[in-house]
Amino acid sequence: MEGYIDEHPILKFKRGKKVTFFFEDKELEGYEGLPIAAVLHAAGIRVLSISERYNRPRGFFCAVGKCSSCLMEVDGRPNVMVCMELLKEGMKVKRQPPRGMAKDKRKKLN
Ligand code: FES
Repeated sequence: MEGYIDEHPILKFKRGKKVTFFFEDKELEGYEGLPIAAVLHAAGIRVLSISERYNRPRGFFCAVGKCSSCLMEVDGRPNVMVCMELLKEGMKVKRQPPRGMAKDKRKKLN
């Protein structure tokens, strides 16, 4: 699958089976058991959330659950750190509006 590192001189990659999931109602494929943020990144989706104060795009930053740059809605649960949450078949992943912002006021990205 495109967007993934297949070979590395030091690291070995263990991937699950290929599954489908939904990002903003668009059906995508990814490997089960990888962090959702990594799967989105491999699919070319770089904007995971929008900053509250300046309404700026935020992407994959620390990748270890320390910065909250990747908070998204997963299967209806808000504020999921998608760099730590592992992909499962059929998951529904969405960007969430910054606190206090109505969904229809969000910037259209990607
Ligand atoms: S990218 Fe920092 S918490 Fe997920």
